[in-house]
Amino acid sequence: MNILVTGGAGFIGSHIVNTYIKAGHRVTVIDNLSSGKLQFLNPKVNFYEIDILNPDVSEILKSEKIETINHHAAQISVSESVADPLFDVNSNIIGTLQLLQSAVSFGVNKFIFASTGGGMYGEQIFFPASEDHPCQPLSPYGISKLCAENYLTYFFTKYGLSTTILRYSNVFGPHQNPYGEAGVVAIFCERLVNNKKPLIYGDGKQTRDFISVSDIAQANLLALDPACTGIFNLGTGIETSINYLTKCLVKISNKNIATEYGPVRSGEQRRSVLDYKKFHKGFAWKPEVQLEQGLVETYNYFQNERS
Ligand SMILES: NC(=O)c1ccc[n+]([C@@H]2O[C@H](COP(=O)([O-])OP(=O)(O)OC[C@H]3O[C@@H](n4cnc5c(N)ncnc54)[C@H](O)[C@@H]3O)[C@@H](O)[C@H]2O)c1
Repeated sequence: MNILVTGGAGFIGSHIVNTYIKAGHRVTVIDNLSSGKLQFLNPKVNFYEIDILNPDVSEILKSEKIETINHHAAQISVSESVADPLFDVNSNIIGTLQLLQSAVSFGVNKFIFASTGGGMYGEQIFFPASEDHPCQPLSPYGISKLCAENYLTYFFTKYGLSTTILRYSNVFGPHQNPYGEAGVVAIFCERLVNNKKPLIYGDGKQTRDFISVSDIAQANLLALDPACTGIFNLGTGIETSINYLTKCLVKISNKNIATEYGPVRSGEQRRSVLDYKKFHKGFAWKPEVQLEQGLVETYNYFQNERS
């Protein structure tokens, strides 16, 4: 299959590209390298350094005869979305809408979209959150992801474009940016590798659902199935406190480093965990990587990066 991966030089996108290539697909990547890195790119891809908002993207769809778009390029920072909601709207809503329009114009069959569970469900009412949990985004980032999701559903109904919305929990693994505000695993690995204390905001009892990027890449492979349309949560269903996560990472680092605590960050959810039963039932997917095992692999990656 001819697949376009947007954001294929980024953290999650680069793993999806590798999985698609391993499965025998022909992969084209578009990425503006705003956070993605050339060294993450599989050498077998056709790469275009271009912004998703650039009208020339439609020419790429045409010339590469793209059959499926897997859309991972986005403005991913919650705090940036608060500081500059218009930039977020341009990347995450207008950018997605332009791709959807080009998809329909150039005969693309399928569109897979990376969405967010945490950003979508807000302060959860029930645990774990299934896909029918009310969407109550707390940030412009969550609002724009919800709006883009609604456009996908509209294009499915109006034009018959096969659309798949994957709502991720907290993804972690190699290639994640350790200098952002999110991605606590990457941030803490980087700090520990550099002999710095991990800094926890609040009491550390807040919980997240940490899913390995290799499980997410595998789910994106299964999502190529023409029968896979609609909205699906991808997480582990397991709540992990930031205190436990930190304890594991400090142990893995084998260093005698204390943990620091800082003030609670405003707008941060207390508990977040996703129910992945729907995708499991439909496509026999389940998370394979245990948290502790994934943390060892991720820590080793950051340690090797340093040396
Ligand atoms: N990391 C997570 O835990 C998580 C959770 C839920 C959803 N997501 C979603 O998954 C997707 C990938 O996130 P990630 O964590 O890999 O982030 P990332 O920043 O590593 O990847 C995004 C990639 O898109 C590129 N990009 C950004 N804006 C672009 C634009 N306008 N045009 C072209 N390229 C552009 C960047 O250079 C980068 O390579 C995003 O849509 C994000 O919202 C991530």
